[in-house]
Amino acid sequence: MNNTLQSPIDIGPCHLPNRIIMAPLTRMRAPDNIPTELMKSYYVQRASSGLIITEATQISTQGAGYPATPGIYNTQQVAGWKQITDAVHAENGRIFLQMWHVGRISHPDFHDGALPVAPSAIRPEGSAVTPSGMQPFVTPRALETDEIPGIVEQYRQAAKNALAAGFDGVEIHSANGYLLDQFLRDGTNKRTDLYGGSLENRSKLLLEVTEAVADVWGAERVCIRLSPSGTFNDMSDSDPATMFVYLLGQLNRFGLAYVHIVDALEGDIRHGANVIDLAVLRAAYNGVLIVCGGYDQVRAEAVIEKGLADAVAFGQLYIANPDLVERFKAHAPLNEPDPGTFYGGTEKGYTDYPFMA
Ligand SMILES: Cc1cc2nc3c(=O)[nH]c(=O)nc-3n(C[C@H](O)[C@H](O)[C@H](O)COP(=O)(O)O)c2cc1C
Repeated sequence: MNNTLQSPIDIGPCHLPNRIIMAPLTRMRAPDNIPTELMKSYYVQRASSGLIITEATQISTQGAGYPATPGIYNTQQVAGWKQITDAVHAENGRIFLQMWHVGRISHPDFHDGALPVAPSAIRPEGSAVTPSGMQPFVTPRALETDEIPGIVEQYRQAAKNALAAGFDGVEIHSANGYLLDQFLRDGTNKRTDLYGGSLENRSKLLLEVTEAVADVWGAERVCIRLSPSGTFNDMSDSDPATMFVYLLGQLNRFGLAYVHIVDALEGDIRHGANVIDLAVLRAAYNGVLIVCGGYDQVRAEAVIEKGLADAVAFGQLYIANPDLVERFKAHAPLNEPDPGTFYGGTEKGYTDYPFMA
């Protein structure tokens, strides 16, 4: 029988009852960077998803770049997340934490006036979202070579904290122009040390982070999100296809839970993205592949049926439809997401989207 969105799949030791994944979604509703009761309600509402991937969660204060995003570096944050993972498990759900370091996509206001860090001192176009509103990005400070082990340690410690917080696994955020993606691409990585230049060197930090996180969790509960065709956050690369095919080849050796690919979005294509065919990425990777980016039920069934992906993550549809699994099953109409309430605010546009009647 063919695989479908509603058919089960094993991801490492986790048994997923369906292949409808909740994509990581920053919602900026964690005052003081601590997970809240309201966040618990939001995730519990979505527990029928095959797998919930949390919103991006900073691994350290250095890794922060948006207001009211949760962290996983202090005891209050671990305790807050533990309440959420317990509640999701009580509803028979599964939940992975997305681990995040924003690198240059930040602002001195998040760092007591110090500069954000990056592979190279290259300012992104655009503006940072700061507690006092939008402010132009600054030129970040290039990390010294002897600071890199400290970055790997931030991930290792955050992985330990995620374990203590009761998650089922962790997703390393290496997509969408944040720190690890900044290292992968030659538009943002102009380093001349062991972490810049060749494909091998640009992949080195991500592979070291993967090793460290897998040491804590076992590789079968660790996964990585990549956006090979992405241009978000002013990203560019002279030859992304070669980079990501090489990288996926390297990731094959770990036996990860899955790799999560953000497909080219309309915006990327408009911004001249060098779009990489999913079939090329699929051929390069031996394990479970999740895809995301502009999928509806029909396209998602098709990508699974063709064997191009094993499961599909939904972003905006999950914002607006807590019972997306049940709606897909019933071919029921979907609620429309309201972009005005995506970031920040209260339960409006967060936990008040109606379930099916
Ligand atoms: C409000 C919002 C917040 C997002 N936050 C994150 C995030 O924290 N981490 C991440 O990797 N992607 C994030 N994304 C990207 C989504 O995970 C997803 O890749 C994107 O929305 C495309 O999928 P869709 O067309 O199904 O929405 C966000 C997208 C939206 C709309």
